[in-house]
Amino acid sequence: MHTKRPVTRLPIDAVPGFLPDLRAIWILLLGAGILCASALAAPGPKPQALKAPAKAPAASDFVGPETCATCHEAVAKGFANNPHSKMVLMHGDKGITCENCHGPGKAHVEGGGDVTKIFNPAKAPAQQVVATCEKCHAGTHPNFDRSPHAKAGLSCISCHSVHQSKANTKLLKASQPALCYQCHTDLKAQLHMPFHHPVNEGVVSCSDCHDVHGTFQPNNLRNTADQNMICVKCHTDVRGPFVYEHMPVKAEGCLACHSPHGSQNARLLNMPNINVLCNQCHSAVGADTVHGQGQGSSDSVPCTSCHTYIHGSNINPAFLR
Ligand code: HEC
Ligand code: HEC
Ligand code: HEC
Ligand code: HEC
Ligand code: HEC
Ligand code: HEC
Ligand code: HEC
Ligand code: HEC
Ligand code: HEC
Ligand code: HEC
Repeated sequence: MHTKRPVTRLPIDAVPGFLPDLRAIWILLLGAGILCASALAAPGPKPQALKAPAKAPAASDFVGPETCATCHEAVAKGFANNPHSKMVLMHGDKGITCENCHGPGKAHVEGGGDVTKIFNPAKAPAQQVVATCEKCHAGTHPNFDRSPHAKAGLSCISCHSVHQSKANTKLLKASQPALCYQCHTDLKAQLHMPFHHPVNEGVVSCSDCHDVHGTFQPNNLRNTADQNMICVKCHTDVRGPFVYEHMPVKAEGCLACHSPHGSQNARLLNMPNINVLCNQCHSAVGADTVHGQGQGSSDSVPCTSCHTYIHGSNINPAFLR
C-alpha cells in the first residue's frame, strides 16, 4: 500500500533511451534524471526562486560532499544511513548529495561557512522548501499544492526531517499517530472513544485513510482504484455491487451511518439507537402492515435483527437475507 516510491513514479519514460526492463541502465540514468527533474516533473511551483540546482548552476559552483564533511562531520556521518544516500546510486555510488538540497556550496565554503550563502530549508519559506523537495518528489506527491496542509502554510519539513528523523520510517519527525496529534489534538479524543478504529493500537494508521500529501477528495481522503470510498478497501464484504443496493450506502457513503474515527456507539454508528438511525429516513415504518404496531419505535427489536444485510443483498430486496 505504501510502497510507491518517488523514483518509480518519476515520469521516467520521458528520459530518452529508457528501457523499462534494464534496471541497471535506469539507475545510471537516474542521475541525469534527477538533475533535470524539474523539467520532467509534473506541474509544480516554479523553481526560479531556488538556490538549489534546479537550473543547473555551473559545475564549478559545487564542491562535493567530501568538502561539506570536513566541517559538518556529524551531519555527514549521519547522512550515510539516510535513504537519500543509501537508496540511489549516482555519480559513482554517492547517492543524493548535500548540494542536491542545499544548492551549490562553493560560496558558502569560501566564506568560511557563510550562512547567507547556503540554502537552509529550516529557515526558508514553506513554498521554497516544497519546491526544493518537489524537484524530485512531485511524481509521488503531485497534489501537495492543493492540499489543506499546503494551504495552511505547512511544508514537507513540518512532518519530515531529513537529518533528525525520530521515526524509523519515511524520515518522519515522529511516528503516526503521535505526529498527527501534535497538531490535531481533537483527533486524539476521537480515537480514544469507547468504539474506535484501532489507530492507537497500531492496526490502522491515519494514512490508511488519508493521504496528507493531497488528494482530489475532501479531507485529504484516499479513494480506491475503483473509485469507491476508502472504507471498502478493508471492509470488502460491504463493497458490493449488490443486486439490491441499499441506496444510501452508495449515494451518501458510509458516513451516512458511521463515524470514521470513533464513536460512543457500537459499530461506530452515528446514533445510539439503530431504529432511530433508520427512522431518520424510514419514518413511516411501524405504521404499515408489514411491521405492525410499534415495530419502528426505538425500544422494539432493532431493525437489523430482520434486515440483517443492511449494506446490500444479492437475494432479498428488503435485505432480510
Ligand atoms: C569551511 C567549513 C565549512 C564547509 C566546508 C561547509 N560549511 Fe556549512 N557551515 C559552516 C559553518 C561555520 C556554519 C555555521 C554553523 C553554525 O551556525 O552552527 C555552516 C552552516 C551551514 C548550514 C546552516 C545554514 C544556516 O542558515 O544556519 C548549512 C545548511 C550548511 N552549512 C551546509 C553546508 C553544505 C551543504 C556544505 C557543502 C557544500 C557545507 N556546509 C560546507 C562551515 C562550513
Ligand atoms: C534531501 C535533502 C537534503 C540533503 C540531501 C541534505 N540536507 Fe541538510 N538539510 C536539509 C533540511 C530539510 C534541513 C533542515 C533541518 C531538517 O529538516 O533536518 C537541513 C539542514 C542542514 C544543516 C543545518 C543544521 C541542522 O541540522 O539544522 C546542515 C549543516 C546541513 N543540512 C548539512 C548537510 C550536509 C553536510 C549534507 C550532505 C551530507 C546535507 N545537509 C544533505 C535537507 C537536506
Ligand atoms: C535530488 C532528488 C531529491 C530531492 C531534492 C529530495 N529527495 Fe527525497 N528522495 C529522493 C530519492 C531518490 C529517495 C529514495 C527513493 C526510494 O526510497 O527508493 C528519496 C526518499 C525520500 C523519502 C522516503 C524515505 C524512506 O524511508 O522511504 C522522504 C520522506 C523524502 N525523500 C523526503 C524529502 C524531503 C522532505 C525533501 C526536501 C527537503 C527531499 N526528499 C528532497 C530524492 C530526492
Ligand atoms: C502533514 C504531514 C506531512 C507533510 C506536510 C508531508 N508529508 Fe510526506 N509523509 C507523511 C507521512 C505520514 C508519510 C508516511 C505515510 C504515507 O505514505 O502517506 C509520508 C511519506 C512520504 C514519502 C515516502 C513515500 C510514500 O509516499 O510513502 C515521501 C517521499 C514524502 N512523504 C515526501 C514528502 C514531500 C516531498 C513533502 C512536501 C511536498 C511531504 N512529504 C509533506 C507526512 C507528511
Ligand atoms: C504541523 C501541524 C500539522 C501536522 C503535524 C499534521 N497536520 Fe493535518 N492539518 C494541519 C493544518 C493546519 C490543517 C488545515 C486546517 C485544518 O483543517 O485543521 C490540517 C488539515 C488536515 C486534514 C484536512 C482537514 C480538512 O478539513 O480538510 C487532514 C485530514 C489532516 N490534516 C490529517 C493529518 C494527518 C493524518 C497527519 C499526520 C500524518 C497530520 N494531519 C499532521 C496541521 C497539521
Ligand atoms: C478509517 C479511516 C480513517 C482513519 C483511520 C482516520 N481518518 Fe480522519 N477522516 C476520515 C474520514 C472518512 C473523514 C471525513 C469525515 C467527514 O466528512 O465528516 C475524516 C476527517 C478527518 C479530519 C477533518 C475533520 C475532523 O474531524 O477534524 C481530520 C483532521 C482527520 N480526519 C485526521 C485524522 C487523523 C489525525 C487520523 C489518525 C489519528 C485519522 N484522521 C484517521 C477517515 C479516517
Ligand atoms: C486500513 C483498513 C481499514 C479501513 C480503510 C477502514 N477500516 Fe473500519 N475497521 C478496520 C479494523 C482493523 C477494524 C477493527 C476490527 C475489529 O476490531 O474486529 C475496523 C472496524 C470498523 C467498524 C466496527 C466493526 C465492528 O464489528 O464493530 C466499522 C463500523 C468500520 N470499521 C467502518 C469503517 C468505515 C466507515 C471506514 C471508512 C471511513 C473504514 N471502516 C475504513 C479497518 C479498516
Ligand atoms: C444506512 C446506514 C449504513 C450505511 C450507509 C453503512 N452502514 Fe455499515 N452498518 C450499519 C448498521 C446499522 C450496522 C450494524 C449492524 C448490526 O449491528 O446488526 C453496520 C455495521 C457495519 C460493520 C460491522 C460489521 C457488519 O457488517 O455488521 C462494518 C464493518 C460496516 N458497517 C462498514 C460499513 C461501510 C464500509 C460502509 C460504506 C461502504 C457502511 N458500513 C455503510 C449501517 C450502515
Ligand atoms: C440516510 C437515509 C437512510 C438511512 C439512515 C437508512 N435508509 Fe434504508 N433506504 C434509504 C433509501 C433512500 C432507500 C431506497 C428507497 C426506495 O427505493 O424507495 C432505502 C431502502 C431500504 C430498504 C428497502 C426498501 C424497499 O422498498 O425495497 C430497507 C429494507 C431499508 N432501507 C431498511 C433500512 C434500515 C433497517 C435502516 C437502518 C439500519 C435504514 N434503512 C437506514 C435511505 C436510508
Ligand atoms: C420482525 C422483523 C422486522 C423488523 C424488526 C423490521 N422489519 Fe422492516 N420489514 C420486514 C419484512 C418481513 C418486510 C417485508 C419484506 C418484503 O416485502 O419482502 C419489511 C420491509 C421493510 C421495508 C420495505 C418497505 C415496506 O415498508 O414494505 C422497509 C423500508 C423496512 N422494512 C424498514 C424497517 C425499519 C426502518 C425497521 C426498524 C425501525 C424495520 N424495518 C424493522 C421485517 C422487519
